[in-house]
Amino acid sequence: MKFFVTFYFIFIFNICLSLFTKKPLQESLLDGQEIYKDFCAQCHLEDGKGVKGIYPPLAKSDFLKDINRTISSIKYGLKGPIIVNGEKYNSIMVSQGLDDEEISDVVNYILNSWGNSTKQLITEEIVNSIEK
Ligand code: HEC
Repeated sequence: MKFFVTFYFIFIFNICLSLFTKKPLQESLLDGQEIYKDFCAQCHLEDGKGVKGIYPPLAKSDFLKDINRTISSIKYGLKGPIIVNGEKYNSIMVSQGLDDEEISDVVNYILNSWGNSTKQLITEEIVNSIEK
């Protein structure tokens, strides 16, 4: 009997733990939208279209296909030259100083907005594992 009670508590404990540690996509997208408005929209614009030749687009950007590179550029900053949708950009984006959770939220947001859609959920752990 004791065995089953202990087992039961471990089981419930694990369910609670997973509820608190894993952020569902919907919540991440809402947080990501806030972060985007505060830290990204002044350059890449609310509609993600950017400014041709100056601020590259995020809406339907082919750069975003490489998710690791996308995360790295937001985490550590990005220095050109790069080609986005056939257009050359040779500029600098400094790191916005976001923490790993905030980066995962904003990446989920840009990967699932303005016609972009990705099946993968980006977690804080994934962001944490990305190196420069
Ligand atoms: C001060 C303006 C500025 C801000 C703020 C800014 N960016 Fe950028 N971003 C740029 C520039 C300029 C580039 C291109 C850099 C280069 O030429 O290498 C860029 C490139 C990118 C790229 C890769 C190219 C592309 O368009 O797919 C991504 C992804 C990106 N930014 C996402 C973000 C996100 C997310 C934020 C907010 C957390 C953000 N940026 C904030 C200016 C900015």
